[in-house]
Amino acid sequence: MNFYHWLRSLLPRELNIPQDLAKQTLAKLGYFRFRTRVASEGASVPDVDLYRPLFSPWDGLKGFREIYEQVRPYTLVSPDRCWILASCMAHARNLEGDFAELGVFRGGTALLAAMLLAEAKDQRALHLFDSFAGMPTTSAGEPYKAGDFNQTSAQSVGNLVTGTGANAKLHVGFIPDTFANLDIQRLAFAHIDVDLYQSVLDSVAFVYPRLVPGGIIIFDDYGNPSCVRAREATEKAFSNLREKPIYLPTGQALIIKLGL
Ligand SMILES: C[S@@+](CC[C@H](N)C(=O)[O-])C[C@H]1O[C@@H](n2cnc3c(N)ncnc32)[C@H](O)[C@@H]1O
Repeated sequence: MNFYHWLRSLLPRELNIPQDLAKQTLAKLGYFRFRTRVASEGASVPDVDLYRPLFSPWDGLKGFREIYEQVRPYTLVSPDRCWILASCMAHARNLEGDFAELGVFRGGTALLAAMLLAEAKDQRALHLFDSFAGMPTTSAGEPYKAGDFNQTSAQSVGNLVTGTGANAKLHVGFIPDTFANLDIQRLAFAHIDVDLYQSVLDSVAFVYPRLVPGGIIIFDDYGNPSCVRAREATEKAFSNLREKPIYLPTGQALIIKLGL
């Protein structure tokens, strides 16, 4: 066990290492407000406290913050990444097709999707894929092991998402087994958050052919240092396709399905 492995082992696998501590401290000290005032040469800037240093609505925009506070206890996904998810889902709501999440864990980002669909009275299906019993066997070079992320249950996540009124359907078990015999013809949006090389490849193999033109896939783990093989899998999955992963500074990558 090397030093970094030992340090990481002090934290539960399911706990994210805090991000942006320096940014939060600078915001509290008023640095960004000062910087924004200088950059705007003193002109009034709406939502001035959300410029950190660029407009960062996920750090405090009221409507979004209220939703995120409900999601937060159940998710590993940071507010900026949830903002991207919400924006892409708003786009995809204009398309025909179901929504899907692959990698649900305690159901936080699934709850975000369910809340947005329910609020819009959108009864399209929201398919949720997870073992709800932790990771499968992992590949070489991955820091996770089988059974990590098992502090959840299909029942608790089912209660959480169906409580919103959304048309959520849980597919409990290991990917790709749970894809067998499913009648899902079209997908408008998919969130792939499975962390592992083989799980990403299997997820893309199922989602991509069903994705409608204009539909979006978000890969949560692309830039995450604890999911290095997820990036490799995403690149491999699209190496022979016309769409190419668009990397975002949040650590996510996305693809938008091209038309014919
Ligand atoms: C990082 S967690 C998902 C986080 C979640 N989206 C959130 O809001 O916090 C990754 C999940 O992927 C699941 N997973 C990974 N590979 C899988 C596979 N082959 N089959 C089923 N579930 C899998 C794990 O069980 C785990 O719950």
